[in-house]
Formats: sequence, structure tokens, C-alpha cells
Amino acid sequence: MQIETITTTPYNDQNPGTSGLRKKVKVFQQPGYLENFVQSIFDSLEDITHKTLVLGGDGRYFNRVAIQIIIKMAAANGFGELIIGQGGLLSTPAASNIIRKYQAFGGLILSASHNPGGPDEDFGIKYNVSNGGPASETYTEAFYKRSLSITEYKTTNIQDIDLDSIGSQQIGNIKITIIDPVSDYAELMQSIFDFKLLKQSISSGYITLLFDAMSAITGPYAKRILVDILGAPSESVINAEPLEDFGGHHPDPNLAHAHELAELMFSDNAPVFGAASDGDGDRNMITGSNIFVTPSDSLAILAANAHLIPAYSKGLSGVARSMPTSQAVDRVAAKYNIPCYETPTGWKFFGNLLDAGKITLCGEESFGTGSDHVREKDGLWAVLFWLNLIAVRRQPVADIVHDHWQKFGRDIYCRHDYEAVETPIANSIVEDLRKQLPTLPGQTFGEYTVKYADEFCYEDSIDGSISKNQGIRIGFENGSRIVFRLSGTGTVGATLRIYIERFEPDADKHNQDAQIALAFLIDLAEQLCEVKKRTGRTEPDVIT
Ligand code: G1P
Ligand code: ZN
Repeated sequence: MQIETITTTPYNDQNPGTSGLRKKVKVFQQPGYLENFVQSIFDSLEDITHKTLVLGGDGRYFNRVAIQIIIKMAAANGFGELIIGQGGLLSTPAASNIIRKYQAFGGLILSASHNPGGPDEDFGIKYNVSNGGPASETYTEAFYKRSLSITEYKTTNIQDIDLDSIGSQQIGNIKITIIDPVSDYAELMQSIFDFKLLKQSISSGYITLLFDAMSAITGPYAKRILVDILGAPSESVINAEPLEDFGGHHPDPNLAHAHELAELMFSDNAPVFGAASDGDGDRNMITGSNIFVTPSDSLAILAANAHLIPAYSKGLSGVARSMPTSQAVDRVAAKYNIPCYETPTGWKFFGNLLDAGKITLCGEESFGTGSDHVREKDGLWAVLFWLNLIAVRRQPVADIVHDHWQKFGRDIYCRHDYEAVETPIANSIVEDLRKQLPTLPGQTFGEYTVKYADEFCYEDSIDGSISKNQGIRIGFENGSRIVFRLSGTGTVGATLRIYIERFEPDADKHNQDAQIALAFLIDLAEQLCEVKKRTGRTEPDVIT
């Protein structure tokens, strides 16, 4: 094995966002672009010599090419072992599990999550540390800084590795192991949930289900777990073949993109349970016959019922939610007298709390839920959690949700996204909102009096790090909130997200359409930020 040092020039745009570096495939295909970023990561880490690196991705276009490049660079940079998912595939939660289980030094996950794939679409790469979770901002800032001054990267002249044959081989100083991407994860799920009960509930016909893998990574995982192990009919998993372009769709589990599932779930033939996951398998959308469960409600319901699941039967140490996620889970924590933490958007902020044992469950409004079993959000885990809950409670999804609202009240919630807004317009919207903040407290709009208006700043209670500018929040005396923030995962222009919530304690008013129930606050949000006026749009691109 001959090590080659290649001269390179820095790119100035390799600043990781909410979840790693995401760019168009064409950007990643520029000479040295991927190599520069990977070398910047390797250069920023402590000694990597003889260490183990996990490698895999969601199978999107450029995945295999990128993996071969990274294998050669990892070998040249002195890693001792590479653990790679067969076919170059690993879902994000499975990669997190493998890093933890095999005590790897870290992992590189190749994915742009729910963004579309293909030659003209998106690619991404992120580094996870030894706890299995995404690298914190201290790391990502170091990667970026290094990328701005990089002058060379290291690679080797070895042949491409056969990614499809399971087994190990030694090449020079590096051992390369190709593993089954599913089996460790399936084993982990069996250690958390009551598979015996699930099998019975499925075989007896009490639970009927549909899972939409959206032509992305969870297909093989769902087939193995739901069909092969739990015995669901094979038609229960649709779009199960991972495709490089996700069949031309957005692998984003919401009612708009998982339309095949949505149509069935809101029909007379709906099964008891329906769910979808995203490109890399960390997101989940939960539905039941004729009901959609918002991710914020799902987190609260899982927290309130966790004691019914084998792995959480002793109770939860605490819970956490990202700031824009509704306050539904806060009410559960208050009732059970456990701590509830509010973190900035992005899974990396949960890692320290999970490692310190401060929280057991956590989640985000963006279809992300997870627990201390790995250090990523986990789509299929959430699906199995719900199935286990339905099996134990012997209630349909709608009854579980309505019971929850009855007990805790309902946090009516929605998010409006304005995508691909010209960056200068988006920036001026945020700047102008910022300017209004000092004037808002005390002002009354209809029945809403502003209690506080600020920009969310987070101090990590474990390592003391501070993350500023994490979204603009306007909170009202009655607990309602409007939150504005710019996405950190998009690849075209800027995406403005507006999050709106209102608490409804009255059970007679729980069955309202969120857009109608929140109409006043939706209008107020426009009055404050003028996104429609400034962009000439008449409605958001996506409503969730
Ligand atoms: C989005 C979600 C965020 C999630 C991230 C990665 O980030 O809002 O909750 O952690 O994707 O899946 P954003 O584009 O808002 O920065
Ligand atoms: Zn994802």
C-alpha cells in the first residue's frame, strides 16, 4: 500500500450545518471537494492511528463513489479498521449503534437525510463521535476552520473494495470489514421492545400496518424486522427497495411526500397503523386509521406511556425537546415530576444530556424521536414503540391520542416552511424581527399578550458551551408561541421556518383542524415577519 500526498486548494463553503455538510452532488464532485472535507475532519481529530472508523450511507447517488474515496483516505491516514455496511449502506441510527457496540472511534455517515437524491440533487456527509452521536459544534467548527487552510490530503493506490461481500480483509495496515447493515440493529430493537407480544398482535390480526420506506434506507430494515421477524405480510412494507434517486421523490416522511401512505390511512380501508421514514432512517411519521399524530404529540405520548415498554419500564430519567417543538412533552414531565430540557434544533444537542443520564427520551417537531439506546433519532424505533403501545393498550392510535389530550390538554401545532427564499430577503426578515424584539413584550394582539420576545441562546448544562442565535421566539401570556428560524440543512437559498402553537385545555375543542385553530397566530406571524409580502408568495411551500 503506497501512501500518496495530493496537493489541494481550499473551498470556502465547507461549514457544516444543522446536520453535517450538505451540498448538491455536483458541488461534491468538484476536484478535491469531498477529499478536502474528509481530510479536514481527520486532521481535526485527536490521534486516529490504529483506530476504528464506521462507514456507511443512505445509498443515495454518489454514495458508493464517496465510500471508495474515503476508504483509501482512511487507510492512508492510519486508521486500523473500517467497519462498512454491505453495499455501503447503513441507516443513521444503525451507524450510531455500530459505533457504540463495537466501540469505534467514530463514524462517517453519508446522507442528506430527507433531501432528494440523484445527480442533480443533494449529498451530505457527517462525522459522529465515539458515543455514536453527531459531532458537537466544537468539532464542526474545527472541521470548517481546517477546511479553509487545507493544502494537501492523503490517499492510497489500493484497488476499489468489493462492498457487497460480507467479511474482513487486511490491506496493508488496515482491516476492512463489511457487515450486514441490519442484524445488529434488529438485535438492539429486540432488546428494547416486547417482540413476543408484537408477533402475537400481528399474527392474530389485531394490528394491521403499512410502512412506507420511501425508496430509501429503511426498506431492508423494515423488511427484516416487520416482515421476517414479526411476521407482517410482505405488502406491509412499500417502496422497500433503496434507490439512488429515491424514485425521484423527496424521502421526507410527511403527509405531502408520503402520499401513497396518506391516501390509504385516510380511507375506509386504512390499517390500524401507518408510518414512514426518511432517506437515512432517522425520521418517522406516525399515523393511525384516519389520524395523523404530530411529532410533538408523538414525543409526549411516548413519554407518558414509556413505562409500558420493557426497556423503559423503570421510568424515565428526564426528557428533552428542541426549542421549536411544542410544549406537549413539558406537561408530561411536569406531571411525572421528571426534568424537561429545551435544546436548540439538531440532534447533536441531546448527546451530552443522554451521555450524562439526564434524559431517556428526546425529540424534535421535525419528525424525530429517540432515546438513550443510540445517539441519533431513530425512525423504526419510534414505529416499534407505537406498535408496542398499541399492542399493550389494545387501543387504536386515535384513542391513544384523544386520551392523551383529555389528560394533558392539546398543544395545537403547525410549522410553515418557505423554501428557497433569496438569501438577502431571508436575512433581512430575520434582522427586522430581531429589531422588533425589545418592543414586543407587553403588546397585545387580540387575546394574545406578548410575555417575552427573544432569540434563543442555549447553555449546555454539561460542558458549559454556549450556542447563540438559535431562533427567534415570541411567547404569549397564555403559553402560545410563534418561533422563526432559518434552516441549516437546505442547499438552495434559505428556508424560513415558522412554528406556531397554542394550548387548548378544553376537551370539547380538541377536534379542530390546526390551520383553523391557529389562524389568528398564523396571520400575526405574517404581520411580524412579512414573508409573503417580501417574497410575493401566497402560501408556504410545506405545512406540517
Ligand atoms: C432540520 C430540522 C431539525 C433536524 C435536522 C436534521 O433542520 O428542523 O429539527 O434536526 O433537519 O434532520 P433545519 O433544516 O431546520 O436546520
Ligand atoms: Zn434523516
